[in-house]
Amino acid sequence: MNMKIIPKHTAVIMDGNGRWATKSGMSRVKGHKQGVYALLELIDLAIEFNLPCVSLYAFSTENWKRPEKEVKAIFFLLTEFFNTYLKSILDKDIRILHSGDKRQIYPDVVKKINKAVELSETNRGLTVNLCIDYGGKSELVRAFNRLFCKLQKQEIQEINEQEIEKELYTYPLPPVDLLIRTGGEKRLSNFLLWQSAYAELYFTDTFWPDFGKDEFINALDWFAHRQRRFGSV
Ligand code: IPE
Ligand code: IPE
Ligand code: MG
Repeated sequence: MNMKIIPKHTAVIMDGNGRWATKSGMSRVKGHKQGVYALLELIDLAIEFNLPCVSLYAFSTENWKRPEKEVKAIFFLLTEFFNTYLKSILDKDIRILHSGDKRQIYPDVVKKINKAVELSETNRGLTVNLCIDYGGKSELVRAFNRLFCKLQKQEIQEINEQEIEKELYTYPLPPVDLLIRTGGEKRLSNFLLWQSAYAELYFTDTFWPDFGKDEFINALDWFAHRQRRFGSV
């Protein structure tokens, strides 16, 4: 693998848990459970490959449309994830960030998220930005509302790109260099819309629970060979 050009910020749309499970006659929830193992493996690989930062799409603002049973199961798995792995996450010097709207998330899950963010605040290894109840559009609406208040209070004189970026959940993370989507769909599904303006997009048919080391190396290798022009020649 060409390790000279590594993405400063890798975003992953972890899609295909449900189809992974149903193709083997299992419940969709079983797929999400298996998805957590893939997530843990990805975190270890990111450390192994010296990536500074990964953003992981765990639950979108649109995912509330799913049956309540599935939504509850996903949040239960997130709670279990923190209960079981927070200690080893801290031992690995990982810094946890959260992007998303905390107002609708179950209070006990919010507590777990806040605790993970607080306890890992001074860690300087891999940054793992967990995107839970995250939507790119609602993030921008929130940013514009906050800017509107700042304008009224004359804390800022104008709205520009820098001021918008300061109001995003992801501030001060760098823009997304590489965006990976598993599960075969070629769409962004409202993920990091602003931050991915110049991201390289890697799509694979592999369902998330099957995404492992070989495929991750493929994606990073593919990224290393992209010619990034950013509008220039
Ligand atoms: C992605 O897998 C995980 C979440 C949205 C939480 P899906 O649940 O969307 O799996 P598919 O796309 O239905 O196979
Ligand atoms: C995107 O997957 C959200 C997450 C992976 C958390 P979805 O399965 O919700 O996206 P759509 O509905 O296929 O666009
Ligand atoms: Mg899906």
